[in-house]
Amino acid sequence: MTQVKAPARVVVLISGSGSNLQAIIDQQEAGTINIEICAVISNKDGVKGLARAHNHGISTRILNHKQFDSRESFDKALRETIDEYTPDLVVLAGFMRILTPEFTKHYLGRMFNIHPSLLPKYQGLHTHQRAIDAGDKEHGVTVHFVTAELDGGPNIIQARVPVMEGDTAEELAARVLVQEHKIYPQAVGWFADGRVKMVDGKALVDGNPVTF
Ligand code: GAR
Repeated sequence: MTQVKAPARVVVLISGSGSNLQAIIDQQEAGTINIEICAVISNKDGVKGLARAHNHGISTRILNHKQFDSRESFDKALRETIDEYTPDLVVLAGFMRILTPEFTKHYLGRMFNIHPSLLPKYQGLHTHQRAIDAGDKEHGVTVHFVTAELDGGPNIIQARVPVMEGDTAEELAARVLVQEHKIYPQAVGWFADGRVKMVDGKALVDGNPVTF
């Protein structure tokens, strides 16, 4: 008899529009990725990503960082909230907060981030404008494991797009976003199927080190 694997329990953290969250929900509902989204947590009230979660009957929580007196106390409360859902994987989907080392250590090997650049290029903000200003012919997006280094954990998957002559940052961002919506659900699905792991600080997909 075939064993049916239980869906991976996923908690998604957002700060804004949640279009990557939507892409993950869509693939989950289509049955292409074996996950259950247990909760969506936002550090901002009233953002579109919360409405997206509501529309799909997913529990939401709001934890406003401005109501905490330190980064440490916010991260502690965030960790406690996340862990109520006993997730297998924590997915940062446009979650615009710098995380404390205690927090990242707690979720080491079980927290993903998506970052709109070809990491290790352009860690931090304004990645699209920086790629344009540098005259890059190619730009893109990376899904990586989260470590204590901002946008610095081992890469899992990247997608590339061309930078066109005269591109604005908005035009380039829109081109990158199309790719984000493909590779983030794919990486989450790999995790759910046990195909991606972090071992000795490196990402392995199907047992092979990711090399880029
Ligand atoms: C995405 O472009 C994501 O790559 C970026 O924020 C956007 C969120 O969009 N993340 C970062 O810059 C993290 N450093 P979304 O809320 O529509 O998914």
